[in-house]
Amino acid sequence: MDHFNYRGDTLYAEDCEVAKLARQHGTPLYIYSRATLERHWHAFDQAVASHPHLICYAVKANSNLAVLNVLARLGSGFDIVSGGELARVMAAGGDPDKVVFSGVGKKVDELEMALEVGIHCFNVESAAELELLNDVAGRLGKVAPISLRINPDVDAGTHPYISTGLKENKFGIPMDEAEALFLRAASLPNLQVKGVDCHIGSQLTELRPFLDATDRMLALIDRLAENGIVIEHLDVGGGLGVTYNDETPPHPDKYAEALLQKVAGRPLKLIFEPGRAIAANAGIFVTEVLFLKDNGDKRFVIVDGAMNDLIRPSLYSAWQNIIPVTPHEGDSCLCDVVGPVCETGDFLGKDRQLNVVSGDLLAVRSAGAYGFAMSSNYNTRPRAAEIMVDGATASVVREREKLTQLWHGEQILP
Ligand code: LLP
Repeated sequence: MDHFNYRGDTLYAEDCEVAKLARQHGTPLYIYSRATLERHWHAFDQAVASHPHLICYAVKANSNLAVLNVLARLGSGFDIVSGGELARVMAAGGDPDKVVFSGVGKKVDELEMALEVGIHCFNVESAAELELLNDVAGRLGKVAPISLRINPDVDAGTHPYISTGLKENKFGIPMDEAEALFLRAASLPNLQVKGVDCHIGSQLTELRPFLDATDRMLALIDRLAENGIVIEHLDVGGGLGVTYNDETPPHPDKYAEALLQKVAGRPLKLIFEPGRAIAANAGIFVTEVLFLKDNGDKRFVIVDGAMNDLIRPSLYSAWQNIIPVTPHEGDSCLCDVVGPVCETGDFLGKDRQLNVVSGDLLAVRSAGAYGFAMSSNYNTRPRAAEIMVDGATASVVREREKLTQLWHGEQILP
């Protein structure tokens, strides 16, 4: 459930009229709902309330400072994948002691930064990273808390670009190398083994792959115990899907119930890294119709938002609902909603039934995750403004970029 609903004949974001926000702040525009973000975070947190746990929101899904701050105020932890994300978390008031650091390519300066501020855990993804972290920690006189991210080789049944838990993917450590690497980690002086970690993919709509991966992780934890290695936490990653169209992903309650059955009786803290499940349906992307164009077979609705603003449809053939902000009476027709970028792949939606005229506003739903965060300046387009609504109050949480910002730092030859 979210807080983007029609009242009468026009769309609202909580108690704010979307058309008014678009007039005031211009388009294209991202609008986030604080109440929806909080609702989704609590849904996760309450689902596992009976068991020791930490919810580490995956910053990559939406890293706006206001989003991070709203979650930090709830007591959220954060899953980061770069020094930049760590800096954002801290700028937003997040607690470094609740940060887990994932990613296959961490650099020395990023490891140093995370050691200096004292994060909760490094999710180490290779033998080489393990040795490097031990060296860097030793040099700084620190002990690094670590988990090893294991690749459980399960099929998440999702888009190949966002599937991460198969042996052929670059992520994690193969299961058959896990025990030896844990033994190595336990023998290194500047590391402290804390956990086992996995993340098998994103936009999962079935429980089965999560549960298969958990079984494999628990069996590993038992084998480690036989070797004297005590694991304090199991990080199950993120990946729980959302409804974009007709998907029926499990509710966090169902997911938690099934997981808790598996870990019952074990003194294992659970860490979750949800991104999409918290942010996707807490945001919309609002764009204005510039022109209509017919080519005989097809109608193109040309809008001012493009693939540089929201790349999911172009990159993953992702389907996101496109709705009129203020619907008209009358017949709809089949349309492709396309942007101004000079690429055939620049579309927000294909074959949609719409009834629009130039000047209308459209809202792309479920745009709060992997929307703005993946946007770029391609075609020298300033990135969109971001607004967060909280009841009847709307705040600009990121200004629209100005043209001169786009070439800031560039130099012409003398
Ligand atoms: N933890 C790790 C280690 C991850 O790599 C990811 C996402 C997450 C947590 C959060 O996953 P979530 O709960 O959001 O599914 N850009 C793609 C999604 C890429 C996901 C990358 N990793 C999209 O727009 O669909």
